[in-house]
Amino acid sequence: MSEKLIAPSVLAADFANLQRDVEMINKSDADWFHIDIMDGVFVPNISFGMPVLRDIVKHATKTIDVHLMIVDPDRYIQTFVDLGSNILTVHYEACTHLHRTLQAIKSAGMKAGVALNPHTSIQLLEDTIQDIDMVCLMSVNPGFGGQSFIENTYAKVSALKEMITRKNASTLIEIDGGVTNKNAKQLVEAGADVLVAGSYVFKSSDPMATVKDLKSLVN
Ligand code: DX5
Ligand code: ZN
Repeated sequence: MSEKLIAPSVLAADFANLQRDVEMINKSDADWFHIDIMDGVFVPNISFGMPVLRDIVKHATKTIDVHLMIVDPDRYIQTFVDLGSNILTVHYEACTHLHRTLQAIKSAGMKAGVALNPHTSIQLLEDTIQDIDMVCLMSVNPGFGGQSFIENTYAKVSALKEMITRKNASTLIEIDGGVTNKNAKQLVEAGADVLVAGSYVFKSSDPMATVKDLKSLVN
């Protein structure tokens, strides 16, 4: 089994101590930085934008995994590659021409991800799965950290894993929302490769230890 990855979500960090929290992730067993960009239109919340990401990238020493919760993401593909994003994930629900968007992300030099809201069927990816580097299954409704995990996600992970295997694709499965030590193991057993964790990491009394425990729980 390939190594399972942990991606702490910076949305749950202390923005007044961002450098400290970025350095904590650098030193921890985490694999990626998960960066949530919200526009207040696609989701009912606004997180942070380019200037903040630029400063995170200045200090971060690991893969930058950007999750765009914005309408018309094509407008910002070049901006995010210029900022240092390694993976750019767009929402299925925000893309009229998803195939074109995926090609544009890859030709800009990034890995291309597609996120699905809890209500969006994985079957809608049958015709694009071979072009997708990562599918991000939302296990909460996007927009806020700290929500509780939607149990139907397990079934989606298994069905998506079956599709990826059947299509002979090398797509990673990322789970985003409400991930804790209570669901992490079952998620990787169902086929997940990357676990995003925001509040579970940052609101814990010892975030470094929490990352270490999560990493060893799934590997
Ligand atoms: C939700 C974001 C998530 C969020 C996860 O819209 O996409 O990445 O930060 O936070 P937790 O782990 O607290 O659910
Ligand atoms: Zn996210």
